[in-house]
Amino acid sequence: MSVKPSGKRVFSGIQPTGIPHLGNYLGAIQNWVDIQQNNECIYCLVDMHALTVWQDPIALKKQVLEQTAILLAAGIDPQKHILFNQSSVSAHARLAWIFNCVTRIGWMNRMTQFKDKAGKNREANSVGLYVYPNLMAADILAYKATCVPVGEDQRQHLELTNDIALKFNYDYERDFFPQVEGLIPKISARVMNLRDGSKKMSKSDPSKQGRIELLDENDEIINKIKRAKSDSEPLPSEKEGLVHRLEALNLVSIYSVLAKQTIKQVLQDFGGKGFSVFKSALSDLLIQEIAPIRQKTKELLADENYLHNILKQGSAKASAIAEPIVSEAEYIVGFLK
Ligand code: AMP
Ligand code: TRP
Repeated sequence: MSVKPSGKRVFSGIQPTGIPHLGNYLGAIQNWVDIQQNNECIYCLVDMHALTVWQDPIALKKQVLEQTAILLAAGIDPQKHILFNQSSVSAHARLAWIFNCVTRIGWMNRMTQFKDKAGKNREANSVGLYVYPNLMAADILAYKATCVPVGEDQRQHLELTNDIALKFNYDYERDFFPQVEGLIPKISARVMNLRDGSKKMSKSDPSKQGRIELLDENDEIINKIKRAKSDSEPLPSEKEGLVHRLEALNLVSIYSVLAKQTIKQVLQDFGGKGFSVFKSALSDLLIQEIAPIRQKTKELLADENYLHNILKQGSAKASAIAEPIVSEAEYIVGFLK
């Protein structure tokens, strides 16, 4: 989707595990904030998805509040829109069960994220991890949302969501669930690890050196960018010069999104210059963006009651939309009401 959506119902989710990083921010959260202006937005901390891999119960609770604070600090407006945690609205789990019965095992077996996350010892993983995409489809379709801002790694899950909607509509002979469209950024849909340009930036990487987190202090940002992998050539003046230089391409892409410039414009300014000049300009941009979010998050975290209340209000508003839709789906499949 290249034109900004308007008048749509938007749904997206993020797992409350670890601290969101620059990939989450540029791939998803920035779009979440942007499209609030002309759309009805529902944003969800997907604690049920988080549970598909082991979570310490105390840490999970803390992370839901921490991430609520980060999203508010980044510019999510909980008064005009909806921010809540998934497990507090039972419609998600109920619709996910129906979708477990709609989806075919063959469809599930094609999901690449499961293959990546499950690793070699597939049978030792939770069944929840396997059916994770059905819960994601339920998240979106419980609201009949049609616009889903996510990073590139979620594209296959959105295609599955559309397959589920089509099969449900076909099996029960009615046009009940809509087709959904991803809102995936052009440049920053896949921000790469700072130490290895062939791996995506990820919360689950054991080393924090490859990712910039939204709560990093300024000196951490400067150091991570200084130590980010680059190469010995100066930056090229044309985009084609970045083709086989994965790390350089990643850093230039991050710069271009933060500076709201095209890659061509960035290379016009930095072509022929070495990485030390470029990296210092990039650190400045990152600090400009991240320092206010970090500061505001700290302020918000001082008042946990306020954060609890935001989520409570959000859950009530979310339930009011999802309950009638999911009740109708239950009626359609034959549950006595
Ligand atoms: P997660 O942290 O897996 O819950 O992801 C939350 C959102 O961030 C999803 O929309 C992802 O597609 C997006 N995302 C995660 N990692 C990256 C990355 N390295 N680059 C761009 N987007 C990302
Ligand atoms: N699976 C998404 C991720 O890991 C998170 C997610 C859960 C989501 N439910 C969603 C994203 C619904 C968009 C819509 O990034």
